Amino acid sequence: MLQPQPATSTPRAAAAPPPNWVASRHPLGWLIDRLLAVEPLRQLLFLQARQLIIRTAERRGIAWRARREELQRQAEPLLGLSTDPAVATPAYYRARFHAYDAGNLCWAAACEAEQATASMALRVWPGESLAPEQAQERLRDAIFTAIEPSLTAPVHRALDIGCSVGVGTLALKHWLDRREATDVAVEGLDLSPQMLAVARVRDPEGRIRAWHHAAAEASGLPAAAFDLISLQFVCHELPAEATRAVLAEAARLLRPGGVLALVDQDPDSAVIRSLPAPIATLLKSTEPYLADYFGLDLPATLEQAGFREVRRQACDPRHRVLVAVR
Ligand SMILES: C[S@@+](CC[C@H](N)C(=O)[O-])C[C@H]1O[C@@H](n2cnc3c(N)ncnc32)[C@H](O)[C@@H]1O
Repeated sequence: MLQPQPATSTPRAAAAPPPNWVASRHPLGWLIDRLLAVEPLRQLLFLQARQLIIRTAERRGIAWRARREELQRQAEPLLGLSTDPAVATPAYYRARFHAYDAGNLCWAAACEAEQATASMALRVWPGESLAPEQAQERLRDAIFTAIEPSLTAPVHRALDIGCSVGVGTLALKHWLDRREATDVAVEGLDLSPQMLAVARVRDPEGRIRAWHHAAAEASGLPAAAFDLISLQFVCHELPAEATRAVLAEAARLLRPGGVLALVDQDPDSAVIRSLPAPIATLLKSTEPYLADYFGLDLPATLEQAGFREVRRQACDPRHRVLVAVR
């Protein structure tokens, strides 16, 4: 068993300024922005982009369309089980995300999330001919390796906030079970009933202890109940105020000494900072709160939420992990 380490606190470097493209300063980005404001053009452009994404994914071995149909058929009967009618959905969450008009609250988004997550992992290492599963494993392993030094006590219960269809939740479970050499209680939480229904399909053996339908900022879960909380690729989907509220809720849910791990786009990444203007503009138009994300000094926000010993570490060429202790 690992022994508790003495508490240390490292001075924090200043937060990186947002990449230039966040403010649309590039003339080409500005032009695409204007074109996207014309609804029929936006729809045409998105249709083209979507077809390109699906074709590219299928060429790399991700069965995008076949899997979408299969998942929807299996998940639809689980929608009732995955819905808590008492949950209040914040207005910001109903925005159009990833070019889905209903954002995360629709079958299309839920039944394509696994494929989109696989494509995302492949994009991290564009020069390598990895299989989708290899890229996903490498992505998650790098995240968990970055968390490890902050875990100075056993993990009995963990929560994956913004779990979507459970790709990261199941990877977390796999890693923790090996680390602890026991069956660790891992739970997932998301605001989208459709995503949670697909997560249940993807977890046929019920390895995840619970799939909670709840808002991350008002989970309704007991205080000081968790040893580890992960927020994998969630904060870029939140307005700044919601991020503050979610971090405050995570602080409430963690036991003293518990660990929060937050992984998302790295504002210091050379790849992210130098995204070509057309790609950056399309990205921004599908991610309504990206400017909020890059505008927020997350290490400082973590400290304001009651966390200490905030560490940041690039885990791959595009993403960083922030790890903090409650
Ligand atoms: C990009 S996906 C996360 C992917 C997933 N964690 C992974 O590692 O593959 C973002 C998820 O956060 C969820 N989400 C966004 N805002 C939320 C909130 N306020 N409460 C709960 N879930 C939220 C969305 O429904 C979506 O499933």
